[in-house]
Amino acid sequence: MKLHHIIESQQFTLPTLIELFQRADQMEQVVARGGTLDYQKKIMASLFYQPSTRTRFSFESAMLRLGGKVISTERAHEFSSVMMGETLEDTIRVVGNYCDVIVLRHDTVGGAQRAAVASAVPVINAGDGKGGEHPTQALLDLYTIYKELGVIDGVKVAMVGNLLDGRTVRSLAYLLGKFERVKIYFVAPPALQMKQDILDHLASGNVWYSLESDLSKVLAEVDVVYMTRIEPEKMPAQEKLPSPYYLDEAGIQRLRSNALILHPLPRLNEIAVGIDSDPRAAYFRQTKNGVLIRMALLASVLD
Ligand code: CP
Repeated sequence: MKLHHIIESQQFTLPTLIELFQRADQMEQVVARGGTLDYQKKIMASLFYQPSTRTRFSFESAMLRLGGKVISTERAHEFSSVMMGETLEDTIRVVGNYCDVIVLRHDTVGGAQRAAVASAVPVINAGDGKGGEHPTQALLDLYTIYKELGVIDGVKVAMVGNLLDGRTVRSLAYLLGKFERVKIYFVAPPALQMKQDILDHLASGNVWYSLESDLSKVLAEVDVVYMTRIEPEKMPAQEKLPSPYYLDEAGIQRLRSNALILHPLPRLNEIAVGIDSDPRAAYFRQTKNGVLIRMALLASVLD
């Protein structure tokens, strides 16, 4: 499998996803052996215009586990020539002369696509803008479902939180829509529901979805609860705690015994910390899978 730019979930076909997951499985063995030197002549630039813990560190960890080298700026707005008015395109053209792949988090929707057009080396979208895409997060989310449940066809997933602005949920909806008999419950306050473009996309592929506003009503139905943040200022004023968009110890009583609780993280208070020790809480295992998927993606881009 050879990949070039990784910009959006839509670009992945089913066979590519399966191959990617098999490669991520192999990467788990590579990590267990202490890594590889196969990519020691390669350099990854991580260029982040927005804060990140998981995506930046896991990409950098992935590159180091592959034996490669990393150059990095975590606050590109302040620590790059953007301060002097340099365009994203010019920055990308220059940084591309110093590395073999650019991992970019940008603050505008479409930033990764603009970078790809300008770039001589592969660009990987590490999240672009509010309500843009975050394809590598969605790939690791889907890989976690595949690993933990053993199957994706027929899976029932509740996506919960601020779905209007979330980019992980958009990218994950595109990926889930490629599988058979999937059901997606979008659970959000009406003002923060999933955008129409995603709903139209799912409808055009005959993917079942439902718009919901009370998580407690869908918990018993689903195999996966994919929690995301709702910033306190976005929460409708009339909402009283306990919020219908938070998951607590009482809520997980309704969940199936083999259900999964996922979250791209960081969390605010939408998942009670008391749930963390429940075996169904997979969000920290999910972060570990991020390194494996990003190793597989980097290898597929650099080969
Ligand atoms: N899930 C995720 O994108 O986290 P970071 O913002 O820490 O990278």
